[in-house]
Amino acid sequence: MCGIMGYVGPQEAAPILVDGLRRLEYRGYDSAGIAVSNGSIQVRKARGKIANLESLLESEPTGGSIGIGHTRWATHGAPTDANAHPHTDPSGEFVVVHNGIIENFQSLKQQLLDDGAEFASETDSEILAHLVAREYDGDLVAAVRRTVALSEGAYAMVAMTKREPGKIVAVRKISPLVVGLGDGETFLASDIPAVLHHTRDFMVIEDDELVIVTDEGATVETIDGAPVDREVVRIDWDAEQAEKGGYEHFMLKEIHEQPAVVTETLASRLEDGTVWLEDVGFDDEYAADIGRVWITACGTAYHAGLIGQEIFRRVLRLPANVEYAHELRYADPIIGPNELTIAISQSGETADTLAAARLAVDKGSRMLAITNVVGSTLSRYADDILYTRAGPEISVASTKAYMAMLIAQYLLALRIGAARGTVDSELAAKVSHGLHLMPGALEEVLSREAEAEKAAHLVTDAEDMYFIGRGLDYAIAMEGSLKLKEISYLHSEAMPAGELKHGTLALITDDVPVVVILTQRDVYDKTISAVQEVKARGGRIIAVAYDSDAEIAAHADVVLRIPDMEDLLAPVAAVVPLQLLAYHVARLRGHDIDQPRNLAKSVTVE
Ligand code: AGP
Repeated sequence: MCGIMGYVGPQEAAPILVDGLRRLEYRGYDSAGIAVSNGSIQVRKARGKIANLESLLESEPTGGSIGIGHTRWATHGAPTDANAHPHTDPSGEFVVVHNGIIENFQSLKQQLLDDGAEFASETDSEILAHLVAREYDGDLVAAVRRTVALSEGAYAMVAMTKREPGKIVAVRKISPLVVGLGDGETFLASDIPAVLHHTRDFMVIEDDELVIVTDEGATVETIDGAPVDREVVRIDWDAEQAEKGGYEHFMLKEIHEQPAVVTETLASRLEDGTVWLEDVGFDDEYAADIGRVWITACGTAYHAGLIGQEIFRRVLRLPANVEYAHELRYADPIIGPNELTIAISQSGETADTLAAARLAVDKGSRMLAITNVVGSTLSRYADDILYTRAGPEISVASTKAYMAMLIAQYLLALRIGAARGTVDSELAAKVSHGLHLMPGALEEVLSREAEAEKAAHLVTDAEDMYFIGRGLDYAIAMEGSLKLKEISYLHSEAMPAGELKHGTLALITDDVPVVVILTQRDVYDKTISAVQEVKARGGRIIAVAYDSDAEIAAHADVVLRIPDMEDLLAPVAAVVPLQLLAYHVARLRGHDIDQPRNLAKSVTVE
């Protein structure tokens, strides 16, 4: 996730672009840059936060009232000055900024290299500048159209050329893009809040549309050139709502970003059932030889690891252990050289996870990091890296990063399984297909938020609460319970459904809420027995179940439905109603949802 900007108008472009980038910084902040057109194309870019770009502009100012800008969250290539956007073609006459991923960039880059092109960065984005320049025959719009036809993926781009001063051309292919219409000036941005203080009138660009901005305003067309009569919407959010994209809290915004996060994390990595993991360097021989997988992490990342453990064990028949990092580091574990350690951390800076990962490396294990932050300490220790592409997560309670960790582990399991020949090909095909369908399934779950809110009313006044499930459902129960605890301050415990009768049942009395997750068809009847034990003691049941589950309504007070899917993938969808439940309970209890008491986003101490 990156942020992009554009400006055409009477004012000096640089301060407007930089200001917009600052407001988009939540989308990425490992480098930033602008390009301003003023007879020639002047590019200024710098690694690090926007402040670095501002310092550069102080010493090397630009002049001109047309420009484009970018704040980056690295996906291809480390956070360096060279990889920062904007990118130009070698002549410096064509310049682009880009948000998203060009899935076929390797083959496009190879074609360009074969034609003698030289690249200044490691990014997929730079090829767009080369392609626009190559395709240009006097018409920037036509060149951009041809470039888009060649470039597969989900992205948005903005292009500008010295040859047609006064014009910028932008395209949306899934990644967001809006046009702000000011008084004699026009803005482009990844989201509305970036330019809301300049104008309240917006056109929201849709997929496969192209917008041409000149000093006469903005014209929208389909990518094929058909005119589009786009309605102008007037936005009346206040400044705080705007920062949160109109949501009341960052947590809710991030929950709703999850379909897009799944799309981004899968992009260019899963094609026709084959997995490509760009920073995972081990070969098939190594994968076939892995004797055991260790997964280590803390908190929500540990809960993601619980899912990974189940997948490796059940589907790959590969011994796997997930261990809390703060336990593993002092457990003197027997980790051997043919064992793969997977360290999972959103921030890549959690002290315990770093220490456990180091320990595994010292014991001769190969270490693979699953992390959301390019260049984080964990990524620097790692032999292999699988970046989640969730974008910056602001809310302390992790939601979208967890989602991306799950997707990353499915990809990894498919990759290792293919090398070992231990995954049933029919199941692998179903999982691949199911992953591609997942963004749509998550949209469906999110559209049912009102049910989670209804369930929250059953819970708000409770003092204790329990989450139960079996197998993968138990792993989801753990995450649902943690989410509730950290933001609602309601005491909660998660346990395997079969464990309830071994002690905790003594605490189930009238109206005690119990959340049961029922997505694993092979143990459904067993879990229903636990539901009946709860009902017999007067407890309230909130169930998470498939649409097709006709039985559960007879047992539950509220059913939070998810679309039918492969049981193996169900955790991805089943966690969403639990995130929403936690959110709404915390809201009803009036808590500071994004910054819960006593907690920090990154725990960098032991
Ligand atoms: C989750 O909502 C928490 N904020 C917390 O458990 C978090 O997942 C944990 O501290 C690990 O953080 P990391 O992923 O950055 O390593």
